Amino acid sequence: MEVIIQPTAEAASLEAAKKVAAIVRSKPNAVLGLATGSTPLGLYRELIRMHRDEGLDFSQVTTFNLDEYVGLGAEHPASYHHFMWQFLFSHININPSRAHLPDGLASDIPSFCGRYEQAITEAGGLDLQILGIGADGHIGFNEPASSLASRTRIKTLTERTRSDNAHFFAPGEMVPQHVITMGVGTIMEAREVLLLGFSSRKAEALAAAIEGPVTQMVPASVLQFHPKATVLLDEAASGNLQRADYYRHVYANKPVWQRI
Ligand code: PGA
Repeated sequence: MEVIIQPTAEAASLEAAKKVAAIVRSKPNAVLGLATGSTPLGLYRELIRMHRDEGLDFSQVTTFNLDEYVGLGAEHPASYHHFMWQFLFSHININPSRAHLPDGLASDIPSFCGRYEQAITEAGGLDLQILGIGADGHIGFNEPASSLASRTRIKTLTERTRSDNAHFFAPGEMVPQHVITMGVGTIMEAREVLLLGFSSRKAEALAAAIEGPVTQMVPASVLQFHPKATVLLDEAASGNLQRADYYRHVYANKPVWQRI
């Protein structure tokens, strides 16, 4: 796992965008796994800027989002479909038929989940999966105690995650209890993984994921077994890392060809 600490979330988001752009430039039909939530917003803003100012071309890119709330349709303002169109897809030249999210209104959820997995495989697998991390160590919506071999399926959110995400919903509106999420095993099959973690609220989960034991109680810790995982943090999120100075030293002394 490569750990890169940047002074601010903005700086880390620019680094993340450089990595995504490098993949899309070298493989125009790249398959990207995308995430929602507050964390990737700076990354998406920079990708939009790169598309506008530098002609970064998404016309052949395929995307698969990590998760969606069960019961919310694409028009619901708190759905992840809505989020992705609002914060990224409407502003770039993605082909709508190549932008995939789990269907929160699927009538047969297990069969939908099987088809979602199959679509990822048929697209050639994920070249890069973008991840945030929950304050409880979840990735996607794989809450603590999720199987580390899990595939796309229905999950029940913890009360902590529901309350963390309540700010995306109208006042008084219930956050759904159930979601469809790629599994930990699905995420681990991405050829490359980029986890973003910003703010002191994530510091404890990040220290457990990066430096603690691999355990289903901290699903993000399984990334220690991923051959190509990068974690991009701001200063505040790195606050609980024991080896932060070493990670900074490694990054400062990387050969030029190895930099993002
Ligand atoms: P956040 O959520 O980006 O809104 O903090 C991250 C997550 O729950 O994975």
